[in-house]
Amino acid sequence: MNRLEALSRFTKLLRIPEIVISVLFLLTGGVMLWQLPQVHLYTWIKIVAVIAAIPLAVIGFKRKQKVLAILSFALLVISYGLAEMSRNAPRQAITAAILADPTQAGYDLQAHGKAIYQVYCTSCHGIDGALGAVGAKNLAESKLNLEEVIHIITNGKNAMPKYKKTLAEQEIRAVAAYALQLRK
Ligand code: HEC
Repeated sequence: MNRLEALSRFTKLLRIPEIVISVLFLLTGGVMLWQLPQVHLYTWIKIVAVIAAIPLAVIGFKRKQKVLAILSFALLVISYGLAEMSRNAPRQAITAAILADPTQAGYDLQAHGKAIYQVYCTSCHGIDGALGAVGAKNLAESKLNLEEVIHIITNGKNAMPKYKKTLAEQEIRAVAAYALQLRK
């Protein structure tokens, strides 16, 4: 009984922050979804998992049913796992499809860059660099030199994500070379 009391005290204490965080969570999710040019199957599965987790958690905690609460937590873990998975999937697609090792004979910097560009960059910059989603600069009209382009891809800028952790140095160099080539 003590533990149940503690739980209900804890629940009361967290009620306001919980409402604020949930509303912010849903709003930012909505805005980001709105800005995505295309929504993949994984994303829909993640959304369904998160949305299903909410009533399960509410009912689980109201009725004090551990199974429902655990199920709800599991759904959140699954959607997190899916997010991690789809983060690594593109890289495997690239390395499987083209020669990605510059020391190998027949390595083509532009082809490597193009493959990376199509996976990581087209959602905001478009195939031709001019899509301009989420305020992305038109790459066909960019005046930056190679070093500056490499710097922006590596470290990001405003809504432009940083790729320091996602892409290897050589991959950044290749996609930068390809981005410069979009100007012609
Ligand atoms: C989430 C959207 C998004 C993605 C994905 C994205 N970018 Fe960007 N990119 C932006 C935005 C927004 C800017 C403008 C940043 C600023 O100056 O405020 C930008 C700017 C740039 C610039 C600088 C252009 C200039 O003239 O200032 C380069 C180069 C660039 N992006 C290359 C890339 C490459 C290469 C990729 C893929 C590895 C990529 N971007 C992926 C949103 C994105």
